[in-house]
Amino acid sequence: MIGVTVLGSTGSVGVSTLDVLARHRDRFRVVALTANRDSERLAEQCRLHHPRVAVMVDPAAARALAERLADMPDPPQIWSGVAGLEQVAAMPETQYVMAAIVGAAGLPPVLAAARAGKRLLLANKEALVVAGALLMEALAQSGAEILPIDSEHNAIFQCLPPNFGEGLPSVGVERILLTASGGPFRQWPAEQLAAVTPEQACAHPTWAMGRKISVDSATMMNKGLEVIEACWLFGTDTSRVQVVVHPQSVIHSLVQYQDGSVLAQLGNPDMRTPIAHALGWPRRLAAGVTALDLFQVGRLDFEAPDLARFPCLDLAFQAARQGGTAPAILNAANEVAVAAFLERRIDFPGIAAIVDQTLATLPIESVEGCDLDFLLDVDRRARAHAEQMTGRQVN
Ligand SMILES: NC(=O)c1ccc[n+]([C@@H]2O[C@H](COP(=O)([O-])OP(=O)(O)OC[C@H]3O[C@@H](n4cnc5c(N)ncnc54)[C@H](OP(=O)(O)O)[C@@H]3O)[C@@H](O)[C@H]2O)c1
Repeated sequence: MIGVTVLGSTGSVGVSTLDVLARHRDRFRVVALTANRDSERLAEQCRLHHPRVAVMVDPAAARALAERLADMPDPPQIWSGVAGLEQVAAMPETQYVMAAIVGAAGLPPVLAAARAGKRLLLANKEALVVAGALLMEALAQSGAEILPIDSEHNAIFQCLPPNFGEGLPSVGVERILLTASGGPFRQWPAEQLAAVTPEQACAHPTWAMGRKISVDSATMMNKGLEVIEACWLFGTDTSRVQVVVHPQSVIHSLVQYQDGSVLAQLGNPDMRTPIAHALGWPRRLAAGVTALDLFQVGRLDFEAPDLARFPCLDLAFQAARQGGTAPAILNAANEVAVAAFLERRIDFPGIAAIVDQTLATLPIESVEGCDLDFLLDVDRRARAHAEQMTGRQVN
């Protein structure tokens, strides 16, 4: 039995992960589940999956969870705080850690899992964007595996040879083609984007996801974060990564080889496919996903991204090229700006404006030899700057 910790189990990826795990109870045992504040959903999940530990980051929510589970015959231990997340990511009973917390908040437990040598199933792309060098070093030192859960990176992983770690050129790879749906505003005129509402931004045309990643898809910042993620996961710089808009979201990404071959991974847009792939790898597991019907799909379209209409993608490419703390600043400013947009404090184009201004104002520092505290401090300073731009003062 393989022990699994699911970080962020109450979210969209977390729920899909538990769905796949429940199909394979003979193979996997849920060791720990975590959430931030949603004690109601975590309580339901505890009754269904019987983890040994449940973590609520928020201490009041942890108390609420204990009350909800008071009548459970064999309740889990309930821990709280970021330290609780780090502990369940590194506990001996756990072999696999699904990292499905949203945002840089997921970084401390992701790093703890990497240091403890767990198989890391990484959905939390922000952790890699903020701390790519630190995380890759931790993985190398502990010998931990990292398997991408983002459907695009999982697709690329599936299309690469097993020895891709030797370097993309040496295994004959010319380019990674990262597909993007283009989001709900792909065809909207630029002048209408100022009137976009949070409800419109969260209504993704092909994927059902959490609110933050849905807005990131609408601005195409999600694709920008994924470009940075791809560079770390596959050991390349941005010159070998091309974004291709593919509105049907059937091809999840492609790899172009020097002999002219282009390999693609296709499937219905359902996160249970990459989740099952990473849980089972190198075996294949049933995921409950409907088989792809190419006759129903009918056609596959491709277009170049419009960087003028979606400046967040361009900003992410620039931050990736700058390196150092630029990606961490980009991510922090974006998290603040997206939250402000969802609270209707800024308009949709304001997201890119805040990210741009924060990157232009704060110094870009080297990350060589840096530790987690340094990166968390960079993240905190960038958040403070971005918050001021939304009109709310922070300490
Ligand atoms: N959704 C997708 O299809 C998809 C696809 C590819 C990659 N991803 C990536 O996967 C990650 C999760 O996305 P999602 O859409 O599943 O997000 P989501 O639905 O918003 O769920 C986020 C999860 O993180 C928890 N959380 C939120 N803030 C936290 C904090 N400060 N500390 C600890 N836990 C916290 C939430 O707990 P509460 O429920 O208590 O708030 C919830 O369990 C993101 O990095 C996203 O980019 C998602």
